[in-house]
Amino acid sequence: MAENSVDFIKNPAELEAWDKQYVWHPFTQMRDYVEEPTLMFARGEGAYLYDIHGKRYFDGNSSLWVNLHGHARPEINQAIEHQASRLAHSTMLGPANVPASELARRLIDLAPDGLSKVFYSDNGSTAVEVALKMAFQYWRQKQSPDMKRCSFITFKESYHGDTLGSVSVGGIGLFHGLFKPLLFETHAVPYPVYSKYANPEGPAAVASRSLEAVEAELKRRAGECAAVIIEPVVQGASGIRTQAPGFLKDLRRLCDEYEILLICDEVFTGFGRTGSMFACELEGITPDLMTLAKGISGGYLPLAATLAIQKIYDAFLGGYHEFRAFFHGHSYTGNQLACAAALASLDLFESDRSLERMKPAAARLEARLDALYDQSDRVGDIHHLGLIAGIDLVKSRARAEAYPIEDKMGAKVCFALRERGVWLRPLGNTLVFIPPLITTPDEIDFVIDAIEDAMANVLG
Ligand SMILES: Cc1ncc(COP(=O)(O)O)c(C=O)c1O
Repeated sequence: MAENSVDFIKNPAELEAWDKQYVWHPFTQMRDYVEEPTLMFARGEGAYLYDIHGKRYFDGNSSLWVNLHGHARPEINQAIEHQASRLAHSTMLGPANVPASELARRLIDLAPDGLSKVFYSDNGSTAVEVALKMAFQYWRQKQSPDMKRCSFITFKESYHGDTLGSVSVGGIGLFHGLFKPLLFETHAVPYPVYSKYANPEGPAAVASRSLEAVEAELKRRAGECAAVIIEPVVQGASGIRTQAPGFLKDLRRLCDEYEILLICDEVFTGFGRTGSMFACELEGITPDLMTLAKGISGGYLPLAATLAIQKIYDAFLGGYHEFRAFFHGHSYTGNQLACAAALASLDLFESDRSLERMKPAAARLEARLDALYDQSDRVGDIHHLGLIAGIDLVKSRARAEAYPIEDKMGAKVCFALRERGVWLRPLGNTLVFIPPLITTPDEIDFVIDAIEDAMANVLG
């Protein structure tokens, strides 16, 4: 398709007016939104999005961290079309379906050893709800039941989704605080946030401080908690906070020692962004439950999966009249179109050699971030892993002076980036850069050049 080809859009002004009149956007202050220029995408190609006027933007957000192999990949389009011509959807409450069966086998092949069952749902939040309910029910139905296991150990500042169970195990005051009266009890411990720029003491010291706190909490509470839930290796929505390497392995050891389940929420980290297929692989661990969503369908269709070890699955087996089944499911659980897209995405990991091919871009990103940190006092800290980066903007690093949140500096820099052909969505005053896996080193340069330019322009 030609670069500016959005000629199928007949009346852009009317579409923008309908959006402002009728649509309520997620995580958006609508009073500001209706006053601002609309950004409406009409098509995508590779790592680029085109708005309804034909302007091109690099998708540095991977469309909320979901896109892996680029937009409008013919291989995924064809897989969806092919599946649609056979069967778009039939329920999984009872019957099986062809692509869901094939996908489950491939996910178990790829996942850390020991995970053996796949339970489908529709998005990251529901994958987490499923994991929490499975963990809770497991203790009640295992051979010697333990009815005291009613709560969860969580990490401060974590984000696991927006449904009330996943909000209960979240820890971001701004998103979750208001709903406290509706939430179940959890016990939060510090996440071992580590960046090579801001932590000269090294990762081991950071990890061991957090592990001490985890162990103290486990000593007090393991007997009343169903599971520990963590975003492995990096917290996403708290502002991209990388974890001290080595921590996850020790957390697994502690969970075994204190006999508590470990849930790894790989909704964000799964499918390659960290440089490995799954973050758990980086520390060679197997969680008892693992949640997947976002990149699972290559960024095409809503799909999620909760993977479980055999011991958990077995606790749900029994006679029909015992009602030990997992009474949970959604209308579109295991949807065929989404599963077909996911299979095509896994094929692309092989034919594109995605994990190998992303390495030069990840290395270029690290080199450019190192330089940015060195040259700019406006950068407070940077967190980076694979093709994930969070750049914290501050008034002055030397004077440890932050921007007031109401100055909206993150949003202003991202707005300036739009003019430079880059689409990023900030988290407060953190610039979040999460490009698709197909990004080239030259495209990394293009985006970081644009960030430097926009920062100079907006922040001075
Ligand atoms: C780690 C993690 N878990 C769960 C979720 C929720 O996923 P969804 O937005 O698909 O409900 C997110 C979303 O950002 C996430 O980063």
